[in-house]
Amino acid sequence: MRLYVTKNHEGLSELAAAYVLDVVKTKSTAVLGLATGGTPERTYQLLVEDHIKNKTSYKHIKTVNLDEYVGLSSNHNMSYRKYMHEKLFKHIDICDANIHIPNGAAEDINEECKRYDYNLDKLGYPDIQILGLGQNGHIGFNEPGSDFSQSTHLTKLTESTRIANARFFPSVEDVPVYAITMGIASILKSKKILLLVSGQRKANTLLRLFTEEVHTQFPCSALNLHDDVVVIADEAAMIELRRFKEYDSITVEQTDRV
Ligand code: F6R
Repeated sequence: MRLYVTKNHEGLSELAAAYVLDVVKTKSTAVLGLATGGTPERTYQLLVEDHIKNKTSYKHIKTVNLDEYVGLSSNHNMSYRKYMHEKLFKHIDICDANIHIPNGAAEDINEECKRYDYNLDKLGYPDIQILGLGQNGHIGFNEPGSDFSQSTHLTKLTESTRIANARFFPSVEDVPVYAITMGIASILKSKKILLLVSGQRKANTLLRLFTEEVHTQFPCSALNLHDDVVVIADEAAMIELRRFKEYDSITVEQTDRV
């Protein structure tokens, strides 16, 4: 894993957007793996700004999203499909047919997971996969204890994840209990992985990522099994790692982004 540190969330977003744009500009038919949540929001805004200013085209780009809540219709305000539409898709020239997000309102969720895997196999796995990081170490919605060999599956959100995501809902009771998520095995098939870690509340998780062994109780540790992972962390997220006694043994690429 390579670790880049930016001064703040703006710098993290600029660097993440630069990585994505590099892929989009060098491969017009690339597959982008996308995450939702607070961390990548500004990255998507920057991609939109670039599209308006530089006319970067997404006409032949395909996207696959990591996850979706179960039980929310696709136009529900809190569905991840709606999030992606509002934050990115409606502002760029991507074709609807090239957008792939699990359907959390499907009647048969197991069939939906199989359909999603079938699609991924057909499309090809992402050229670049954006990931956020749960405080409990989840990536996608692969919660602690997840089997690393799983592909797309139904998952039960932990109480801590529902509490963390309650900020997007009227109350914690409104946060769905189940979600569909790409599994760790699927995520690791991406060619390149970009893990975005922002804010002090992720500082302990980032410390654990760089200091713990690979184990299923800490899902993001699976990223150690991939050979092209770029971690972009802002200074606030670095607080605990900088205090780590063997900090000097970790190679950190400091960036001068804002
Ligand atoms: C969202 C996802 C989650 C989030 C994670 C961090 O699609 O897969 O793993 O990336 O919960 O969320 P934020 O960025 O809101 O802290």
